[in-house]
Amino acid sequence: MKFLLIGNGAREHALGAAIVRSPQKPELVVFADKINPGLQKLAAVYEKADSLTDFAALEKLVEREKPELAVVGPEAPIAAGAADLLEQLGVGVVAPKKSSARLESSKSFTRDLLQKHDIPGNPDFLVFEKFDKKEEARIAIRNFMKALDGQFVVKADGLKSGKGVKVVGDHLNGVDDGLHYALECLEEDGRVVIEEKLIGEEFSAMFLTDGETLAALPVSQDHKRAFEDDRGPNTGGMGTYSDETGSLPFLDPEDLEAARMITAKVLRALNAETGETFCGVMYGGFIATKNGVKLIEYNARFGDPEAMNVFPILKTDFVEICQKVTTGKLSELPLEFEQKATVVKYAVPEGYPNNPVAGSEIKVLGLPEGCEIFYAAVDVDTEGRVLTGTSRAIAVVGIADDLTAAERIAEEGINKIEGQLVHRRDIGTPALVEKRIRHLKEIRSA
Ligand code: AMP
Ligand code: GLY
Repeated sequence: MKFLLIGNGAREHALGAAIVRSPQKPELVVFADKINPGLQKLAAVYEKADSLTDFAALEKLVEREKPELAVVGPEAPIAAGAADLLEQLGVGVVAPKKSSARLESSKSFTRDLLQKHDIPGNPDFLVFEKFDKKEEARIAIRNFMKALDGQFVVKADGLKSGKGVKVVGDHLNGVDDGLHYALECLEEDGRVVIEEKLIGEEFSAMFLTDGETLAALPVSQDHKRAFEDDRGPNTGGMGTYSDETGSLPFLDPEDLEAARMITAKVLRALNAETGETFCGVMYGGFIATKNGVKLIEYNARFGDPEAMNVFPILKTDFVEICQKVTTGKLSELPLEFEQKATVVKYAVPEGYPNNPVAGSEIKVLGLPEGCEIFYAAVDVDTEGRVLTGTSRAIAVVGIADDLTAAERIAEEGINKIEGQLVHRRDIGTPALVEKRIRHLKEIRSA
């Protein structure tokens, strides 16, 4: 059988590895817009198009290769309707259709959905539409920001590659600054979400679903900031960790249960709202706060780097999982994971994200045991040399019995990669993990 994978980042390299190790021995067909040397090695067919939303090229590939199943990695093709097209072409697809993908592609849609269906987890929020009278919008937004005691977040409504959210204190100086950005969003998208700034510890909880059953994947914590101690500009994610229980040391079982309960209710509400069956991944960005678990946002796909905390330790056949997901039979297949901690660190070009050094050669020397690497945005020259591009280059995963050991392996592995690269040494270290535990304890005992 042939299995189509759309995308070419490190997340997709990890997905590809899980697909080809299936005992069903599928042939991997990749639809990419860039060469990923790791993924290319795994693929029987590697089709490079101009973009992942070039659906004419995608249709041609599907008609030629006739895959049985497909999984879509990144948000852009999902939001543009890749699943709708693939379903029309008779392919079973692990990704939601365009209408259901609004769960990720519209922040206001999801906030409104939770509110309408009385689902817990929303912060205080208001959605502003493009008013006829700009002055009215200006006054209403300013008043709401003040009502939140100046502790607010401004969210552009559409997909912005992680750059649409601005938080007071981090990216915005105060009400005037926030108002300026909110009006800019209104102008651009016709809609903006203003919400309460939540304080706590964030975690990523992903669930595979066939529209009814939710199968929980190991929970992890991402690190968005470029530099150690969570300083510097935001990135796509510099690394993640997940402990040997598939959770995080600062979370209680009740926190995980709250995330599942919210997700189950959102799934039902979403199916009712769209008249479709959501099929694929519901990835909640949650935050454990003084007042319980709140929802930051949903994504309708696997996380990157979060997927790399999942696939290296997945024991169940991923192809069988996809077969169950696409036929509404996920309840028949409990997912099994190795009881291992995982730490993912991204090696990025020096100067990333603002002034990345592209074109520097990368060499991977011998990796330690328990270490896997996944290629992300690298270039390959005519002689087959791997070079840095302008984005995250290689993800290194350390896998071990506990976090301390997994972090050491990840660190050892990443230091075996030569090139003008940097990474965050602090991710998954005992010092940082302890800090997170203390932080949440302080918040919850205050
Ligand atoms: P998003 O693109 O929605 O994942 O937001 C990016 C980041 O902005 C999140 O990972 C959070 O760190 C932060 N953020 C988003 N919404 C809130 C909120 N209501 N309170 C505090 N931080 C937030
Ligand atoms: N880890 C962030 C994301 O996948 O959006």
